[in-house]
Amino acid sequence: MSVLVTGGTGYIGSHVCVELLNAGRDIVVIDNFSNSSPKVLERITEITKKEPKFYEADILDEAALDKIFSENKIDSVIHLAGLKAVGESVQKPLEYYENNVTGSLHLFCAMRKAGVYNMVFSSSACVYGIPKRVPIVETDPLHTINPYGGTKLTIERILEDLAVSDSKWHISLLRYFNPIGAHESGLIGEDPNGIPNNLLPYVAQVAVGRLPYLNVFGNDYDTVDGTGVRDYIHVVDLAKGHLKALDKVEKTPGCSAYNLGTGTGYSVLQIVAAFEKASGKKVAYQIAPRRAGDAATCYADPSKAAKELGWKAEFGIEKMCEDLWNFTQKNPNGIR
Ligand code: NAD
Ligand code: UFG
Repeated sequence: MSVLVTGGTGYIGSHVCVELLNAGRDIVVIDNFSNSSPKVLERITEITKKEPKFYEADILDEAALDKIFSENKIDSVIHLAGLKAVGESVQKPLEYYENNVTGSLHLFCAMRKAGVYNMVFSSSACVYGIPKRVPIVETDPLHTINPYGGTKLTIERILEDLAVSDSKWHISLLRYFNPIGAHESGLIGEDPNGIPNNLLPYVAQVAVGRLPYLNVFGNDYDTVDGTGVRDYIHVVDLAKGHLKALDKVEKTPGCSAYNLGTGTGYSVLQIVAAFEKASGKKVAYQIAPRRAGDAATCYADPSKAAKELGWKAEFGIEKMCEDLWNFTQKNPNGIR
């Protein structure tokens, strides 16, 4: 039996594929390469010495999904395919709802048709909007402040409704905090298209000389040094969380949400210092105005995942920065 991984050539998906293959699981990967490259498949094979079965397909394509389920013995799905740029989602809400929500609906319909009911879904800490308190627990109020977050919360609700409708559904909603870092080999990592929106890829591009300086969005927050605080998690730890969630959904019915974070927050300036230490490079920065929609502080209480999934993040900020720097040096112009 195989695990279907949607979005499996993306940043997080490629690390999930590596962990699944290393754990001896058979996988089938779908991606439409809208935000990744076929080269990632070669890199996954280079790391694992295994060649995953791959379909270049869009989750909006119902016929393609039916074909994939009929040609393979799939028992579980890890669903990562989606568009993820918060700013772009504000400009293109219909494209985001169509790709993420309609695509997910087609996937869930194809699963039901094929009798496949185990689902691990890539959600996000953005379902907590601007958190009223930290650390955030899974039962804290949910609200969203941009269309991207709206798509994640909508998909969570659809999955919760499915679990209520039929006890055959076994679902984990994984709310990722801020995934960073790269595989230790330096072969796979985050490969943003154009100028990065997120902090770590931007910092890495400044350190490698592709961008002149970092804009630090606000230094007047009520935090340790005035800059925004986030819960950064190594992408390999995050990928391992998916295997633990898979173990759980393969045994347990219902729908549960889990925070995947470390439980520790770092400020932007602490990240800059950690990256400078790991890379030996200066990261030039200037203070810029606050970015609209940013929370001052956001970090997880990850104890539910520890208790129910037996998962805990292992890597610290030093290793996250070292692995990102190794990947950046080996791929100074990205993978694409
Ligand atoms: P990514 O863009 O690197 O990976 C997503 C992959 O999905 C890409 O390879 C893309 O080509 C593919 N894809 C998109 N739409 C598709 C479609 N309609 N059909 C088939 N393939 C499609 O992003 P990522 O960082 O690896 O994120 C993976 C998932 O995790 C996404 O759902 C994202 O929303 C979620 N997430 C990411 C973060 C983060 O900070 N990276 C945080 C929280 C949640
Ligand atoms: N920041 C800067 N300069 C930059 C980029 C970011 O100062 O050029 C700051 C932000 O203001 C924030 C911190 O760095 O304080 C982290 O910002 P990111 O854009 O890297 O991450 P966010 O926490 O804003 O959002 C990310 C993903 C979302 C996801 C969320 C929670 O982009 O998709 O984590 O998982 F929802």
